[in-house]
Amino acid sequence: MKRKIKKLNEENLIREISDFFITLDIKKVLQKITDTLEKRLKVERVSIFKKKEDKNVFEFFVFSKGEKELKRMEIPLGKGVVGYAYKRGLPVIVKDVKKDKHFYSLVDQAVGFKTRSILAFPLKLKGRKYGVIELINKKRGIFTRRDVEICRFLSPFISLALENAILFERLENMFLGIIRSFARAVEAKDPYTSGHVERVEALSYLLARKSGLRGENLRIARIAGILHDVGKIGVPDRILRKPDKLTKKEFEIVKRHVIYSKEILEPIGGIEDVIPGIYYHHERYDGKGYPEGRKEQEIPLIARIISIVDAFDAMASDRPYRKALPAKKIVREFLKNKGKQFDPELVDIFLSMEEVKKILKTL
Ligand SMILES: [Fe+2]
Repeated sequence: MKRKIKKLNEENLIREISDFFITLDIKKVLQKITDTLEKRLKVERVSIFKKKEDKNVFEFFVFSKGEKELKRMEIPLGKGVVGYAYKRGLPVIVKDVKKDKHFYSLVDQAVGFKTRSILAFPLKLKGRKYGVIELINKKRGIFTRRDVEICRFLSPFISLALENAILFERLENMFLGIIRSFARAVEAKDPYTSGHVERVEALSYLLARKSGLRGENLRIARIAGILHDVGKIGVPDRILRKPDKLTKKEFEIVKRHVIYSKEILEPIGGIEDVIPGIYYHHERYDGKGYPEGRKEQEIPLIARIISIVDAFDAMASDRPYRKALPAKKIVREFLKNKGKQFDPELVDIFLSMEEVKKILKTL
């Protein structure tokens, strides 16, 4: 009977370990790792320290109790029980931190937590020192050999899962950096819109979040926000830079930028899902927009989001030929165009956002 229970536990453990690799989102990976360790070793808190490649510091990851946000901070490498375990490459148990000379209280202060006992276990990756997992406050009794054995068993999986997520994060940041530069280079053609790309990115992401989008869809909203006007690269400078009202013919040329965007982005693999949000960002809720005259829900949600954010930023920023509009006027414009140019529900969400109110206050 006992063996059966043990076997079941092992099966669960394997499932939990495979869960470390189910996602590449660093926050989720760390959440799964800390959940498993908390549950298996019955501790109050788990922190994970990873040595930074280029610096002699630890990157420190922790979830504060009751908070969903992941805290990241840098702490000096040699300090504390964790630093001691890292240097020696051996697990360290501290039964009572008050009596231990290695205890380093800075992290406690930073996260507002009271540490009593610690098990610090060094992590390795490909035979090299990688970091440390720190288990804090054994709920009942003291840390035992069995706890150390569980850490020994789990630690290679923890290092590998964490490293995968970190590499993925780095790749994603590089990708975002490249497309931001690309978008900024296009923006430079149009001297009236400096900083527009970053603002549309940030607000599109926030409005998408407020509208209930999560995970990959939020990522799509962010990328679409960055790239929404890249097709302007195909619009002649003399039209983009024209301070006066455009002629009908010139406006027809400007309208083509959404088609150019689509043509530029289509050959890039992996961002197909981003294109609709960009291609349709000049559609109007009442069907009088371009390029297809789609209306209401026929317009993809992310395109409806970008349409609002794009218009907001245009009104809320200075142009050489006019100042930013006053806050009252911007709000009035949105309320007037609810259900005409813009999705009415999204307008309400947008105007209720703290970040938007903050910008409006400065105008
Ligand atoms: Fe546009």
